[in-house]
Amino acid sequence: MVHIFLLALCLFFSSSVPSHGSVQDFCVADYLAPEGPAGYSCKKPANVTVADFVYSLAKSGNTTNIINAAVTPAFAAQLPGVNGLGISIARLDLAPSGVIPLHTHPGGSEILVVIQGKISAGFISSSANTVYLKTLKKGDIMVFPQGLLHFQVNAGGTKAIAFVSFSSPSPGLQILDFALFANDFPSMLVEKTTFLDDAQVKKLKGVLGGTG
Ligand SMILES: *[C@@H]1O[C@H](CO)[C@@H](O)[C@H](O)[C@H]1NC(C)=O
Ligand SMILES: *[C@@H]1O[C@H](CO)[C@@H](O)[C@H](O)[C@H]1NC(C)=O
Repeated sequence: MVHIFLLALCLFFSSSVPSHGSVQDFCVADYLAPEGPAGYSCKKPANVTVADFVYSLAKSGNTTNIINAAVTPAFAAQLPGVNGLGISIARLDLAPSGVIPLHTHPGGSEILVVIQGKISAGFISSSANTVYLKTLKKGDIMVFPQGLLHFQVNAGGTKAIAFVSFSSPSPGLQILDFALFANDFPSMLVEKTTFLDDAQVKKLKGVLGGTG
């Protein structure tokens, strides 16, 4: 009986207690190696410095553009320390008429906190197409579940700022209008697949720089 217990104990320790060598505190992105589905390879721990974990989102993004808004990401591609940790963050700046158009982050859920101004935000569920809308003021937060189409619009008439964090180091960002009208997606197929007419598609392609 005692022997069996000791044997079980030995097996337990040999199989389930990791050796020191296999414990990994972090996997700071090694930008010199290619990125795979699981993220970047890890830098050698000896080459990691505190700078790999620090970034600044103090500066406003440039909102002089068609959406009058800017998204400044601190994803794994910008902040190597978040690689492998399942988190990241970004800053949103919205000029008075700014809008982050309907978009999705295929890789992660989002939580937003308004730190200045007022923002109307919403998302659309995937099966019922239910719209969840709210105008948020300073200090309010809102959750956007992974993969769902959502947007943020300045609702205050003054500059608005928010920070958004993600449950992924590389959540991705696909803006619906850019996917439809800012590339070489043939107009005929855009019309077929969206039910928009030729004039509407040509106009949007003109505004957003699409061809075809
Ligand atoms: C690690 O740092 C050393 C010394 O600075 C450098 O020579 C080497 O290329 C670095 N290795 C990697 C994988 O970055
Ligand atoms: C902001 O972007 C606009 C348009 O690209 C550009 O003309 C302007 O110089 C930029 N402003 C700053 C401060 O970088």
